[in-house]
Amino acid sequence: MSDILIESVLQERRQFPPPDAFRGRAHISSLEQYQRLCQEFQRHPQEFWAGWAERELHWFRPWEQVLDWQPPHARWFAGGQTNVAYNCLDRHLGTPRRTKPAIIWQGEPGDVRIITYEQLHHDVCQMANALKTLGVAKGDRVGIYMPMLPEAAVAMLACARIGAAHTVVFGGFSATALQERLQAAQAKVVITADGGWRKGQVVRLKPQVDQALAAGQVPSVERVLVVRRVGDAAMTPARDVWWHEIQAQMSPDCPAEPLDSEHVLFILYTSGTTGKPKGIVHTTAGYNLYAHLTAQWVFDLQEDDVYWCTADVGWITGHSYVVYGPLSNGATTVMYEGAPHAGNPGCFWDVIEKQRVSIFYTAPTAIRAFIKMGDEHPQARDLSSLRLLGTVGEPINPAAWMWYHRVIGGGRCPIVDTWWQTETGGIMIAPLPGATPTKPGSATLPLPGIQAQVVDRQGEPVPVNQGGYLVITHPWPGMMRTVYQDEERFRRTYWEQIPPRNGQYFYFAGDGARRDEDGYFWVMGRVDDVINVAGHRLGTMEIESALVSHPAVAEAAVVGRPDELKGEAVVAFVTLESHYQPGDDLKQELLHHVVQKIGALARPSDLKFTEALPKTRSGKIMRRLLRALAAGEAPQGDISTLEDQEILAALRQS
Ligand code: WT7
Repeated sequence: MSDILIESVLQERRQFPPPDAFRGRAHISSLEQYQRLCQEFQRHPQEFWAGWAERELHWFRPWEQVLDWQPPHARWFAGGQTNVAYNCLDRHLGTPRRTKPAIIWQGEPGDVRIITYEQLHHDVCQMANALKTLGVAKGDRVGIYMPMLPEAAVAMLACARIGAAHTVVFGGFSATALQERLQAAQAKVVITADGGWRKGQVVRLKPQVDQALAAGQVPSVERVLVVRRVGDAAMTPARDVWWHEIQAQMSPDCPAEPLDSEHVLFILYTSGTTGKPKGIVHTTAGYNLYAHLTAQWVFDLQEDDVYWCTADVGWITGHSYVVYGPLSNGATTVMYEGAPHAGNPGCFWDVIEKQRVSIFYTAPTAIRAFIKMGDEHPQARDLSSLRLLGTVGEPINPAAWMWYHRVIGGGRCPIVDTWWQTETGGIMIAPLPGATPTKPGSATLPLPGIQAQVVDRQGEPVPVNQGGYLVITHPWPGMMRTVYQDEERFRRTYWEQIPPRNGQYFYFAGDGARRDEDGYFWVMGRVDDVINVAGHRLGTMEIESALVSHPAVAEAAVVGRPDELKGEAVVAFVTLESHYQPGDDLKQELLHHVVQKIGALARPSDLKFTEALPKTRSGKIMRRLLRALAAGEAPQGDISTLEDQEILAALRQS
C-alpha cells in the first residue's frame, strides 16, 4: 500500500450515516438491531446460526448438530441434507418469482438475454441430465472455463444439483494454468465456450482447452462440453460435444439430489505464498447459508431490486455474489460479458441505465479507472435507478470512495466496502446499509456472527489504531473446509501462523489491519508474499516459478509496487544464466513467458535484470529491500544482514 493511501486513511475523519431510505426499512435497519444480532450470537452462537438456517434454507433432512468444531475442522449442520441448486431455483417456483428474471445477461456487442427463474430451472435440469449422460456422478469434479455467459451459472448450478464439485478457472488464465488446475482437481469433464467478447474483441477459449488437454496431459478429463458464443470451434470427435446439441436431447426433469451438509460444493484455486495454487474447498449447507445471508444483509436485497456484481464467475466474488447469494435470495442478478476499455468507457453506465440497476458492486481498481476516463461518461447516463453501491477486492482509497459516492451514487447511495476472501466464502467485515455509519476507506464492522480481531504474532490484541494481523476467532458457516488434498497446507497457512492458545484458535487471514477508536476495521493489505493486482490475487512465488522455468533465468524475485490504478503492480528482478545477455528482446520474451505460464493478469509491469539478488547470509531474498527499490524509495531499516552490500548499489542503477 502506498504511503499516500496510508496517510489518507489515517487522517480520514468523515462519516456518513445510513440514509433515510434504508433506516427503518432495510433487512437490518438500525445500529441497535445490528448490536442485538451480535449479542444473540455471543450468547448462543449455535442457536443463532440454527435459527437462520431453519428460516432461510430448504432442508431435505434436518441437521443433528449445528457445529461440530474439531479445530481447525468445522462441520456445519452435520447430518442434515439440502441442495444449493434447490435453494437457488426450485423453492422460488411456487411463488411469484417463477416468472421473475433470475439472470439479465448483456453481451458486449449489446445483445441481451433475460432468463426467468422458471427458464433457469429448466436449463439447469437439462444440463444436469447432460452431465450425467457424459458420465459425471456425485462426487466427481467438473472444470468450468468460460466467459461471462449465463451458461456459466447454469453449469455451476447443474453441478450443484447432482452433487458434482465444480472448479471454475477464470477465462483469463492461460492453457498452462488451466491444465495445472484441471490436473490438481482431477476433473472428469470440462465445460467451456468457443469464446467470448471482451474489450471489443473475440477471445477464443476452446483452443486453450485443447492445448491444456493435448497429448493426454490431463488423463482424468473424458469429455468437453462447448457453448457456442462467437461462431465455431474445432471439435475433437468422441471427446467434445456442443452444449446446444446435447441440451436439445435432454429431459428438463431432474430432481435435485439431497446432499449432506458437508458435501463438497466447489473447489476454487487461489494464489498463496508458494508456487502452487491452493484448492479452496467449500461445502454445501454452510456456504449456501453464508452466501445467502450476507447477500441479503449487506446488499439489502428487496424483491424489485436489479442487482449487478461485475465480478467474473472465475473468482469467489462471482461464485458468492453473482450466482449463489443473489439466486438463493430470489433476486435478479445481472451478468455482463465485457469489460470497460478506451473504446467503450461508458459501457458499465449503459448497462445500469438500460437494465435499471439498483445495486452495483465492483472493485476499487475499476472505480479508479473510471475516474481517469472522466466524469462525462457516467454523467451522460441516467443512473437514478441506483440505491446502493459496493466495493470489494482491495482497500479503497478515500478519494476514490468519495468520487464513487458523489459521481455514481449521486450522494444518496450508501457504499458498502466489503472485506472477505476466497477462503471465507462470503463477506466478513462490511457496513450494513441501514445500520452502520460509513467512513471512506474502512470496511467498518464485522457482520453478526463474525468475531474479528487485530492481534500480534502471539494472538494478543493490539491497542487501538495500531497495526496488526487480522484474525477470525470463531468458526463461521462459510469458512473454507480444507485445501484440496493438502491438509498440511491448510493447517500451516491458516491456523498455525498464530499459534492456538488455551483452546483458542486464530484463523489467519494474511492481511494487516488496524481498528480505530470506534472499533472500525481499516484493512491495510497483505502481510504475506501475496500481491493484489487490480483486485486479483497473485502469489509472488507463482510468478517467480514461471520466470525460472525459462532456460535463460537463473533466479527471480517478484514484488508488488504501489500503483495508482491497479493498487499494486508486479515488478520482477531477474538474474540470468551465464551464457545469456540482458536486453530488450529477452525482456519481452520473459514477459511473454509469464503470460503463457499464468495469464495476462500476471504480466510484470516492470522487469529488471540484475547481476545478483540481495540476500541475507542465510540465503533469503530480502524482499523488503526489493519492494523499496521497486517503489523508487530508499530502503528503510536494517540492511546489515545483506550479504553483499554492493548488490544494493548495482540494483539502484538498474
Ligand atoms: C484478499 C482476498 C473477496 C473477494 C475478492 C478477492 C483483499 C478483499 C477487501 C477490502 C481491503 C480487501 C484482502 C484479502 N481484500 N476485499 N474490502 N478491503 N482489502 O478475493 O482473491 O480471495 O483476495 O483481497 O487482501 O485478503 P481473494
